Amino acid sequence: MMNYINFLREVRDNFFEVGAVWPSSRFLGRAFGAPLAHPRGPMHVLEVGAGNGAITHQIAAMLQPGDCLDVIEINGRLAHDLRLRLERDGLLDRPGIKIRLINADLLMHHYDAHYDYILSTLPFTCFPAAKTRAILQLLMDLLKPGGAFSYVKYLFWYRMNRLFGDAQKAGQINGSLSVINEFGAKFEFASRIVMLNMPPARLQSLRRPLPSGG
Ligand SMILES: C[S@@+](CC[C@H](N)C(=O)[O-])C[C@H]1O[C@@H](n2cnc3c(N)ncnc32)[C@H](O)[C@@H]1O
Repeated sequence: MMNYINFLREVRDNFFEVGAVWPSSRFLGRAFGAPLAHPRGPMHVLEVGAGNGAITHQIAAMLQPGDCLDVIEINGRLAHDLRLRLERDGLLDRPGIKIRLINADLLMHHYDAHYDYILSTLPFTCFPAAKTRAILQLLMDLLKPGGAFSYVKYLFWYRMNRLFGDAQKAGQINGSLSVINEFGAKFEFASRIVMLNMPPARLQSLRRPLPSGG
């Protein structure tokens, strides 16, 4: 319950950075975890915008020896709660599994790895189009060739904002959505709807192409 209360406090204080009304559901977490759920080799995974760990907890529980998970969250209080939550459930210290919790702006962090899988619940439509583009380009560049990037788009949310927000807000949302659609047209390979989330969400997945001839 404390997790929910702390999350809602950050929603109130930093709405345009947190960009959600409620932490993600376990159904959305399960959809994000699908690439880790089948028999596989070691994976290097990055989560950006972890909040206080609604998705991270589920992903961390699916890790196997040899896996490595990097988790980035900009908000210091949420990052603190996330660490406590994973520690409490014994998920941080397991043989052969490396989890690095990073309290930083994902655009400022210095990355020392490329990833098989990247997941994001970042609120892209709260961002200006130029920031959305910078983040999407960075995350695609951080993928290994053939690696996948899944991110969430909330259903109905943009329409509500466009209907009830001012013209400037509608323009900013449209700008961000057109950047998302541009990346989708080039790299999307899967999309699924998760109704049991607040708000209901679409999980979109992009793949970094293999080098030609690869
Ligand atoms: C919609 S919330 C999702 C939180 C959590 N992953 C969940 O699913 O419930 C988005 C999160 O992204 C974080 N965030 C926003 N901008 C960020 C940035 N530039 N770098 C890292 N995290 C960021 C916010 O602080 C917030 O916790």
